[in-house]
Amino acid sequence: MLRLDDVFVADILKGRTAIVTGGGSGLGLIIAQSLYKYGCDVHIVGRDLAKLENAKQQTIGSRGGFHIHQCDVRDYDGVAAVVQKVLDLSATLDILVNNAAGNFLCDFESLSKNGWHSVIDIDLNGTFNFCKHALDGLKKSQWGGRIINLATTQAYFGWPQAAHAASAKSAICTLTKSLAVELGGHGIRINNLHPGPIAGTEGVRRMYGDSPNAAGALTCLGEMGHASDISNMAVYLCSPAGSFITGADLVVDGGRWLKRGGPEK
Ligand code: COA
Repeated sequence: MLRLDDVFVADILKGRTAIVTGGGSGLGLIIAQSLYKYGCDVHIVGRDLAKLENAKQQTIGSRGGFHIHQCDVRDYDGVAAVVQKVLDLSATLDILVNNAAGNFLCDFESLSKNGWHSVIDIDLNGTFNFCKHALDGLKKSQWGGRIINLATTQAYFGWPQAAHAASAKSAICTLTKSLAVELGGHGIRINNLHPGPIAGTEGVRRMYGDSPNAAGALTCLGEMGHASDISNMAVYLCSPAGSFITGADLVVDGGRWLKRGGPEK
């Protein structure tokens, strides 16, 4: 089937400023690149400076406006400093994409206290940290601030061998809904984006190893998604088309969540 990458008009997000956590690689980088392509000033955040620099090098165009910030999302004060730097450089803040996540498969019996805390801290507390510090900027957005929290439909069911990540993502989903109610009066739209198996991602590699096509077979459509399926949804949510969407779960997974079974149970 033909997939069109340019599905939105050019500059649909012109004038906006976005932060993407975990934006140095994977889906975070694809989302950051899409927001940039459609006109945003983009600030990516990550722990690994080399990854961030590489991401910048492969993305930035002649207009500039693609920035990198080395920061661990678990560092509450460090996150505050990043948000301040974003405002210093770009003057406004309109979009926050909480994408940074950590995960590893591990039986609950073998999961250590530190293992549990690491994933909860990165996924849930990292999302809290950025929502908290970005709030003042997002409240002032002339387009209505947008927050996208990357989740997974495993939050609906539980996730054997990833109890830490399932718990964190589930909490993120309800954080989203709580904030949708609390922040709607400030014009802020906040939604969960649930990616399914996306070709070439670390998640699929970790889960399906040498047979990634098995992941596609478990969707209703019989195929894995493309990274652009996720980034197009992110652009949509940040665009005027997403103006009346808040507190929602956008599942972009080819119907994977309806077909249970397989490695993710
Ligand atoms: N199985 C069991 N325990 C594991 C583990 C694994 N595969 N990987 C890490 N841990 C445990 C460590 O043993 C440690 O616990 P301990 O002190 O009791 O031994 C604890 O988790 C923290 O590990 P550490 O590597 O120090 O944490 P970190 O904060 O540097 O890393 C992780 C965070 C663990 C989430 C790491 O996997 C990570 O950074 N991931 C980022 C990338 C990623 O996961 N992306 C998601 C793609 S789907």
